[in-house]
Amino acid sequence: MKKLLLTLLLCEMLFANESAKDLAVKEASNALHKLHEMMSTNVKTRISDKGIYAGAKFCVNESYSKIEELSKSLGENISLKRVSLKNRNPKSYPSEDEVKILEAFELIEKSNAYLPSEIVQLNNDGEYKIYFPSTMSNKSCKSCHGAQKGVDIQVQELIKSKYPNDKAIDFVSGQVRGAVIVTVKQKQ
Ligand code: HEC
Repeated sequence: MKKLLLTLLLCEMLFANESAKDLAVKEASNALHKLHEMMSTNVKTRISDKGIYAGAKFCVNESYSKIEELSKSLGENISLKRVSLKNRNPKSYPSEDEVKILEAFELIEKSNAYLPSEIVQLNNDGEYKIYFPSTMSNKSCKSCHGAQKGVDIQVQELIKSKYPNDKAIDFVSGQVRGAVIVTVKQKQ
C-alpha cells in the first residue's frame, strides 16, 4: 500500500512538473509571438515605406529599448531578450549558462540536423528558460547581417558608428543568428 501511494505521489509530481513546463513553453511562445509582431510592425513597415536605411535606424536607435519595454509589459513572472554569440549590441551577449545552449544550436546546425523549435532549461533559481533559435529566415536579414557587398553603404556606416565591435555580419540564409530567450518564473 505504501509503495502504491509512493508511486502515485511520484507520478503526480512528474505530471505536475511536465504541465508546469508545458505551460511555461506556452507563455514563452506567446511572448515570442508578441516580439515578432512588434519587430515586424516596426522594421518591415519602415523598410517597405521608406527603405532599408529607415529600418536600420529603428534597429540601431530603438529596437533594444522597445524589446525591453515589451519584456516589462509581459508581467512580473516573465521576461524576454535577444542574444547572440556573434552579437552586434555588446549588451546582447549571452550569460555563461546561456552560452552552452547557444553553442548547442550551432552544433545542431553544423551536424545538418533540424533545429528544435525551442530548448527548455530549468535553472538553479527554479526558472524556466526557453530558448527559441533565431535564424536568417528571410532575405531581409542579409541586408543588415549578410556579406558586406549586399549591405547598403549608408547602413554599413550607421552600424559601424554605433557598434565598433560588431560581430553580426557575414551570415548566410538559414544560419542560426542567435536566440530569443524567454524566462518564466514558476508561480508559487
Ligand atoms: C534593417 C537592419 C536589420 C535587419 C533587416 C535585421 N537586423 Fe538584426 N539587428 C540589427 C541591428 C542594428 C541590431 C542591434 C540592435 C541592438 O542595438 O540591440 C540587430 C540585432 C539583432 C539580434 C540581437 C543580437 C545582437 O547581435 O545584438 C538578433 C538575434 C538579430 N538582429 C537577428 C536578425 C534576424 C534573424 C533578422 C531577419 C529576420 C534580422 N536581424 C534583420 C539590424 C537588422
